[in-house]
Order: sequence, then structure tokens, then C-alpha cells
Amino acid sequence: MAVLQLAKVSRVYRKGENEVRALDGVDLSIEAGEFLAIVGPSGSGKTTMLNILGCLDSPTEGSIVYDGVDLRRLDEAGLSAYRRDRISFVFQSFNLVPVLTVRENVELPLVIQARAEGASRLARGRKGSSGAARSDAEIKALALEMIEAVGLSGKADRFPRELSGGQEQRVAIARALVKRPLVVLADEPTANLDSRTAGEILDLMRDINERMKATFIFSTHDRMVMERARRIVSLHDGKVA
Ligand SMILES: Nc1ncnc2c1ncn2[C@@H]1O[C@H](COP(=O)(O)OP(=O)(O)O)[C@@H](O)[C@H]1O
Ligand SMILES: [Mg+2]
Repeated sequence: MAVLQLAKVSRVYRKGENEVRALDGVDLSIEAGEFLAIVGPSGSGKTTMLNILGCLDSPTEGSIVYDGVDLRRLDEAGLSAYRRDRISFVFQSFNLVPVLTVRENVELPLVIQARAEGASRLARGRKGSSGAARSDAEIKALALEMIEAVGLSGKADRFPRELSGGQEQRVAIARALVKRPLVVLADEPTANLDSRTAGEILDLMRDINERMKATFIFSTHDRMVMERARRIVSLHDGKVA
């Protein structure tokens, strides 16, 4: 089954009299395990598309069905919980927390999930109900496992400022994968890296895609990055070419 289905998705931005159709009737089906590049010139709608796939923005028209869940059925809190549990991001500028170590950065998504589970258990007013939250020791072990998977075993106790850009992006990839999301979304993930490091990061993402069966959807306008994709979707003026 498709992990993600877009039907007639449009996003219109209004600015006074003008309207921009940043996405214009996009139909797209993405299978679990894909390694998909969204390509197109600047202004073609790549960021708008990834924001919508990440539940950071909603389409003006059309539907998005994630793993059988129509996002239109979720309210603000539901979307937020969906994003927390099922969707991960890798950012162009890495967005690591500077005062946390590598391990603490990678643990963060699991810590946030554990807190959310704890809060909802309190709200239900019962002890020992479904889905026991992970212990600190389990969270630490999962983080260390991902840090090893991205080749940074010796760096777990370092701070982001002690790392190179390529190493920071490896940490960001470990952080994205630690909760085993349905999809990892990355908007131009290599734009702040030199071309050799960008190639290494793409090779790492592709290796993790194969080993962990993780689904990656990333945008780029870098030819070298496109060449490493398994499938390419081209956007032009908000339409799939
Ligand atoms: N918040 C916004 N308000 C108005 N127009 C926007 C906004 N965000 C994007 N756009 C417009 O939508 C189009 C697509 O932008 P974007 O998704 O950022 O493209 P890309 O990431 O491919 O460069 C562009 O014409 C852009 O100017
Ligand atoms: Mg963009």
C-alpha cells in the first residue's frame, strides 16, 4: 500500500490582489521504502510540497492520505501528534540544539514522545494502561544505536560546535530516524555542504534507506544529488512535469 497519496493537491498563497499557485493540482503516490527526489528550479514549489507533506502547512484544495489516514480528519492537535510520532525532518541548516550533546540531540524526539505519552496517561487517570513509555535507559540505547548507524560512535558526548557540517548532518539524520518514522522529509538537505560532503551524506541516506527500509523524500536542485535518487518527481510552476 502507498505510504502517502496526494490527490489534486493545491496550495494558493494570496498577497493582496495577487495569488500564487505554489502547488497546482498535484497527484502523487509514494510507496514505503522509496528514496525520492523532488526537483525543480527555485520557486517551483518544492518547499511548499515538503511543508505540506510534513503537516506544517495544509493544502488549499485536495487530499493527503498517510498510511490510510486522511489528514483532513485530524484537527490541529491531531496533526501535531501525527507529526510527532510518524514524520521526521532533516533541515538544510541541521538545527541541532547547541547546548545538548550528540546523544542528547538524538534522544530528543524520544524524550518528547515519552513526555506526551506520560501526559496522556495522566489525563486518562489510570496507571499501567496501554503502551508503556520508554525508560531513560531504553531511550539512551536507541540513540546510541542510531549514532553508530550514521558512523559517529566516538562522538556521542561531543557538542555540535565540535563537529564538521557533514558530521552535524549525520547527527540530524540519526535524530530523524530514532523514532522509526513513516517518512523522513528533507528540504535541500545538502545545500549547506561542499559537494564531496554532500555526496557522502546522500550515500549515507541511501544506505540507511536500504538497511532500515526508511522512506526518504527530499528536494534538491543539485544534479549530483538527483543522480543518487531512485525516483525523481519534477515540479514546474507547482505542477508535476
Ligand atoms: N508564504 C508565502 N507567501 C506568498 N508566496 C509564497 C510563500 N511561500 C512560497 N511562496 C511562493 O510560492 C512559490 C513556490 O515557492 P517554494 O515552495 O518556496 O518553491 P521552491 O522551494 O521550489 O523554491 C513561489 O512563487 C514563492 O514565491
Ligand atoms: Mg525551497
